[in-house]
Amino acid sequence: MGNLSCYAVVVPGLETMAGDELNELAAHNVQVEEGGVSFTTTMDGLFRINLRSRIVTRVLIRLASFRAMSFPELYNKSRKVAWEHYIGSQVSVSVRASCKTSKLMHSGRAEQAVSDAVRDRLEIASLKTVSRKDEAGAIEANNMGNEQQILLRIENNQCTISLDTSGERLDRRGYRLHSGKAPVRETIAAAMLRWMDWSVDEPLLTPMCGSGTFAIEAAWIAEKRAPGLNHRFPFIHWPVFKQKRWHRAVEKARAMQSSSSVCIIASELDAGILKQARENAALAGVGDVISFEKLDVCRLTVPENISDPGLIVCNPPYGDRVKVDVKSLYKSLGEVFSQQFSGWRMAVMVPDQICENALGLKVKKRFKIKHGGRWVHVLSV
Ligand SMILES: C[S@@+](CC[C@H](N)C(=O)[O-])C[C@H]1O[C@@H](n2cnc3c(N)ncnc32)[C@H](O)[C@@H]1O
Repeated sequence: MGNLSCYAVVVPGLETMAGDELNELAAHNVQVEEGGVSFTTTMDGLFRINLRSRIVTRVLIRLASFRAMSFPELYNKSRKVAWEHYIGSQVSVSVRASCKTSKLMHSGRAEQAVSDAVRDRLEIASLKTVSRKDEAGAIEANNMGNEQQILLRIENNQCTISLDTSGERLDRRGYRLHSGKAPVRETIAAAMLRWMDWSVDEPLLTPMCGSGTFAIEAAWIAEKRAPGLNHRFPFIHWPVFKQKRWHRAVEKARAMQSSSSVCIIASELDAGILKQARENAALAGVGDVISFEKLDVCRLTVPENISDPGLIVCNPPYGDRVKVDVKSLYKSLGEVFSQQFSGWRMAVMVPDQICENALGLKVKKRFKIKHGGRWVHVLSV
């Protein structure tokens, strides 16, 4: 199997950062698009990216692209795909279609056509399928790592068939026993640390830490821990799967890991949530790397044992899911930062202009991301 044509799905707003990360992970022909990044790589590269990317949500490989104006045409062309390379006998298959400005607009019929094509190509009497109506089954199958998703996109009569290689979303690292209130996605937290060029010798404070995502992601970055090491990937069931090469990729990722004397302090007002953050960190294997403290952000000061300026990174409540007076909270955060943290840097997520004004700090750079169904600005001050 030669070069694979791939597409990385990412949180809208993280495309450029994901593109940079993919380049570092030795992807080729990296092209940033809206909502994702296309690239080419080898099977080894696919393993490496799924294991090590901190920013990508999932990786698809593109199997076929063709025009189809009728369901029989879609069926016939889908049947030409070498499904026997990817669909083993033990897996369930789910086909998800999206149709836009095309003659074929019935996604259910399109899914059925592809599903039939796979079954007939493989010459099996019936394909184990997970349908949309059976969401509970789909989730369970995904957790067992034995569901293979096939994605069909039809746009302007052009059909693209892709195969999911990641299974569960890659931001689901497996350490979040508790999610606190309105947690930030792990991929967003990792991207923000990267965007701020955070390095392990810089002290890191994460006030309003919630479930502890920033602190845990930072600790994993410090220890060079590959986020996908405990993930279950559907490709291990592919008939063309190369076990030795996979083991080599896993061994390389494990060998990169090292301990680090990093300073990460996570604080939170709610004692119950702080306890959950501790438990999440313990599950992530970094419970003793992070210091936890119950603290109102209004009382945040530079810890006594820290002499060099560092970085603050936080995702304060937006006022929808976490009910607090957000305007005065952002105002207090701004005052604390300007009065107590001379020489420090801060990355903060803000939901709107009102909160940004309340923060009252000079913004050095910014980017926008889709978070919790809305656009949120990330500010570097
Ligand atoms: C949006 S959540 C943070 C989510 C976090 N980034 C995560 O991934 O779980 C905001 C957190 O701020 C905490 N909080 C609210 N007011 C606070 C205050 N005055 N001081 C410290 N923490 C506060 C809430 O308890 C909540 O856990």
